[in-house]
Amino acid sequence: MKVLILYSSKTGFSQRYAQWLGEALDCQAVPFKERKRVDMSGYEGIVLFGGLYAGQMSGLKWLKKQLPALAGKRIAAVAVGCAPMETPDLPESMEKLFGVTPEIKGFYCQGGLDYEHMGAVDRAMMAALRAALKAQPDQADMLEGISRSFDGSKREYLEPVVQWARRP
Ligand SMILES: Cc1cc2nc3c(=O)[nH]c(=O)nc-3n(C[C@H](O)[C@H](O)[C@H](O)COP(=O)(O)O)c2cc1C
Repeated sequence: MKVLILYSSKTGFSQRYAQWLGEALDCQAVPFKERKRVDMSGYEGIVLFGGLYAGQMSGLKWLKKQLPALAGKRIAAVAVGCAPMETPDLPESMEKLFGVTPEIKGFYCQGGLDYEHMGAVDRAMMAALRAALKAQPDQADMLEGISRSFDGSKREYLEPVVQWARRP
């Protein structure tokens, strides 16, 4: 299958996953902002990677709008967030993102947090979230999890996406 890989990434985690998929499938990953230069009709499959921001996946709204034009193609979207793979409410969050569009096969891969490369608005939002979590003693683990930069990305998390893309 000839696959188009797109990524919308603010701090590089979705970009890295997109590049790993590109290596696995021997094709290039294209930044989201260059998507209009690509003729999507030449591809049988499309995989979009995007960071998760307040439960929303970057680029997904656009992808959903393209669905009528992409009829007949295989389409996947990979949400990349800082939450660990085993987060209990992750399946519910993914259902909210992808449940309404069965045409899109949804995946999740853990990225990380990169405070050094975050924009000022995002940094301020994270500071507000940390302040809110400090007031909730039962959220101590989550507060600890977002208190500093970390890289939780692993190639193995991408394996289900690779398998999906390799299906004949
Ligand atoms: C303002 C803000 C909101 C975020 N919301 C979520 C979220 O809802 N769920 C999550 O798992 N991660 C969340 N994150 C973490 C990012 O999804 C994470 O850093 C991801 O790896 C970013 O990917 P990117 O660098 O490709 O954009 C948030 C980060 C920021 C700055």
